[in-house]
Amino acid sequence: MRFFTVFDIVKNKAGQLGHTEEEMYAYLKKEKINKKNLLAYQDSGIIPTDEKVLNGILNYLDMSKVELELKLGRIPAGFEDVFLNNTKEIAKILEERNSVQQEEQNPIPEIQPYYSSDLGKLYNGDCLELFKLVPNESVDTVFADPPFNLDKEYDEGVSDKNSFSGYLDWYFKWIDECIRVLKPGGSLFIYNIPKWNTYLSEYLSRKLNFRNSITVDMKFGLPIQNRLYPANYSLLYYVKGDKPKTFNVQRIPLQTCPHCGREIKDYGGYKNKMNPNGVTLSDVWSDIYPVRHSSSKNRKFNELSVKLLDRVISMSTNEGDVVLDPFGGSGTTFAVSELLDRKWIGFELGNCEIIKDRLEKKEKDRKLFEKVYEEKNKLFPDKVKELRKKNGLWIDDDFRSDSETEQETNKKANKRSGKINYDQIQLTLK
Ligand SMILES: C[S@@+](CC[C@H](N)C(=O)[O-])C[C@H]1O[C@@H](n2cnc3c(N)ncnc32)[C@H](O)[C@@H]1O
Repeated sequence: MRFFTVFDIVKNKAGQLGHTEEEMYAYLKKEKINKKNLLAYQDSGIIPTDEKVLNGILNYLDMSKVELELKLGRIPAGFEDVFLNNTKEIAKILEERNSVQQEEQNPIPEIQPYYSSDLGKLYNGDCLELFKLVPNESVDTVFADPPFNLDKEYDEGVSDKNSFSGYLDWYFKWIDECIRVLKPGGSLFIYNIPKWNTYLSEYLSRKLNFRNSITVDMKFGLPIQNRLYPANYSLLYYVKGDKPKTFNVQRIPLQTCPHCGREIKDYGGYKNKMNPNGVTLSDVWSDIYPVRHSSSKNRKFNELSVKLLDRVISMSTNEGDVVLDPFGGSGTTFAVSELLDRKWIGFELGNCEIIKDRLEKKEKDRKLFEKVYEEKNKLFPDKVKELRKKNGLWIDDDFRSDSETEQETNKKANKRSGKINYDQIQLTLK
């Protein structure tokens, strides 16, 4: 799908008319439209609500409002019935054109991996090219954390500055590849700033089944004047087909005060009914922190935490399943896949040496991973348990029958909740 804005359509028309940018603005000025009026439609898919601006643009385009809406890729408001009653004719026009255009051949490139392990392969290059290496329906989970088009600094040759529609066009192209390679029931996770994922969600909901729009509560950037302070990333979660082939429930500790150990929110009074493995994870993740400390960082920028990737991968795959990440970055997805015994496929356009290095020296990730599992699938992590005991507060052990040992309870709870417990993880750690 191509994505256009009113600005793109005006620029395109100027090209057809042979107008330079200066001439284009001079013509628009005659229609009482200044540069600022037009630039307002550069970064959004909407059409002008101001009649004068709209009419001026339509005059320059020599177009009706209906035609402009069609050019923007949508059925003009109020014309849905006409459109639906004429789908045969519309399909005929499209199909005639399609039969003229020959299907492009997609030869599989001969590219050697930059790095291989027993579980995975990392390729250095552009993801759109590298996706050609991946057969249809061969991947269990795709996790993607692309550049956000914020003009951030990346490695040489990697750009993070595109036009609004250029970025969305590119976004939809690689997303189509993600969908193609997913197995039926496979999961797709896309991490981005909310702005881009609103467009993506509309696109994805026509192709996959929506599961969750996960809010990752984390501040990014600085407060912006006249706007709300952006404090969440969006993690869209979709599946191919009716339902996920794998969904392992993830559990997190009850939120407690770090000073006294008391519950922060009311648990509803059913303390004896609470699962000793923790509370079910919701679609708001407030316990994921940015990788800022230089001792934990593998790359200068935009590295996600092991905890986030562990959650996504443990939730949507089992041992031996295949995870693909088209934007490797520092290699967090691959490092976690290795620790969880998942197979993986990775792409990265920039420096792959950092990833290779990280995967060869697993010690740092193993430590981070152990830290994650100190808290995972526990109602109260050990330290919190101690604090609560000291302050005379209840802990889950208080409600266990004498015959049920801690291990037995954990095993039962893990069985109920899907998978992994920490003991198993210790065994699979390499
Ligand atoms: C936001 S970072 C990913 C960070 C990663 N999730 C991590 O935890 O380290 C995006 C990465 O995508 C890479 N990239 C950008 N465009 C690409 C492309 N067309 N194909 C492959 N990788 C690309 C960038 O070099 C950057 O390392």
